[in-house]
Amino acid sequence: MRTPIIAGNWKMNKTIDEAIQLVNDIKNNLKEEVEVVVCVPFTALNEVKKIISGTKLKLGAQNMHWEESGAFTGEISPLMLKEIGVDYVIIGHSERRQYFNETDETVNKKIKSALKHNIIPIVCVGEALEQREDNIEKEVVKSQVLKAFEDISAEDMVKIVIAYEPIWAIGTGKTATKEEANDMISFIRTTIMDKYDRGVSDKVRIQYGGSVKPNNITEIMNQSDIDGALVGGASLKPEEFIKLISF
Ligand code: 13P
Repeated sequence: MRTPIIAGNWKMNKTIDEAIQLVNDIKNNLKEEVEVVVCVPFTALNEVKKIISGTKLKLGAQNMHWEESGAFTGEISPLMLKEIGVDYVIIGHSERRQYFNETDETVNKKIKSALKHNIIPIVCVGEALEQREDNIEKEVVKSQVLKAFEDISAEDMVKIVIAYEPIWAIGTGKTATKEEANDMISFIRTTIMDKYDRGVSDKVRIQYGGSVKPNNITEIMNQSDIDGALVGGASLKPEEFIKLISF
């Protein structure tokens, strides 16, 4: 049985004060059966960690460098995240691939580094609209998956969370249909099975992300292969996010 996991990706939103307020609302509305993660901006990690200690709410960062330290101006290392007590880190979000030169190679390095430091990566994959229109979305996602998990052991693979986020569904209000989402996620699971084995692919949790809202969460979560959601916009409003985690 895979435990459902709903994660809020706040992106570049919320000051420390606003973050404290939002997390205070969320932490009182957790459910026993669902793992809930808030991926907050770096500046809010420490304060949020203090507020959620003693609760089941998990903390995530939105990116990290793969090195532990060094001359990388503006970057944050796994040691720094670990010091705060971060549980998860989003790796390879399409916005980072698109605007900040994230590549399959850097994604792979970051995943290895996160695992080494006991931070669970939430690894994002997903095709662009033109790629879906050209019917190459599976090829694209398969290549992202295989490159991301190059030289990752089966033992590590089962800890990882994958988020399938079709780029055309992010922040657009246009969700993939539940069939499209489940079809791709089951394809990702098969790709993992072919690379490892059934034992691994049965354990890996795969989320859907892209315009997940209170009105579509239930049908998404009811799909056979979808284990959770990575939520942008709707994770910023307490009333919406609380509805999502009580799907
Ligand atoms: P939206 O939920 O705003 O579409 O964002 C999805 C996303 O990018 C989560 O990482």
